Amino acid sequence: MQSERAQGRIGEEEVEVYISEEEIRKKVAELGAVITRDYEGKDLFVVAVLRGAIFFAVDLVRAVDLPLVLDFVQISSYGDSTESNGRAKITRELDLSIKDKDVLVVEDIVDTRHTLFNLLSFLRSKFPRSIRICTLLNKRERAEREIPLDYVGFSIENLFVIGYGLDYAQRYRNLPFVGVLRKGGEILR
Ligand code: IMP
Ligand code: MG
Repeated sequence: MQSERAQGRIGEEEVEVYISEEEIRKKVAELGAVITRDYEGKDLFVVAVLRGAIFFAVDLVRAVDLPLVLDFVQISSYGDSTESNGRAKITRELDLSIKDKDVLVVEDIVDTRHTLFNLLSFLRSKFPRSIRICTLLNKRERAEREIPLDYVGFSIENLFVIGYGLDYAQRYRNLPFVGVLRKGGEILR
């Protein structure tokens, strides 16, 4: 377990491991192998979504045994709250062209899918050859948009998770595992 300093506690929350470093490592290797098989002979362009997904993305691309290009977009949705408001805007553009590329969007977590919906319409306007989505985490039964997910690391229940890139008010990203927060005995959702 990380030190309290690394956890960067806010108030009285307790951090609990939800998905361990080891489970994440195994899953990333599995996803990397499947993506390597699926993208053989294609023109793979990985779009990682800042900031949370970079932790997953840099591990995942190292598990993909193919030539690829990596670029980043940033899309804002939450502010400092734990609820999506349905609106999202691109706050950092891609540096490179995705025209005719086989784009793989790498996300840390998909919740209502509003963020993804906005991101996909932005990416489609740049004429990639294909777009698929890879997310480390998918909150089951939270989808409010019909968007298929091509690669999912873990399907999780409706809990607010932190660590391995995921934040709560910008904290906890540097935890090496995915955790949940407990406050006064209750798990935060
Ligand atoms: P959506 O638009 O509701 O699908 O929200 C997706 C975005 O919300 C993700 O990219 C995260 O930035 C954030 N998010 C959703 N659930 C969580 C969570 O449990 N912990 C941390 N961030 C989350
Ligand atoms: Mg995100």
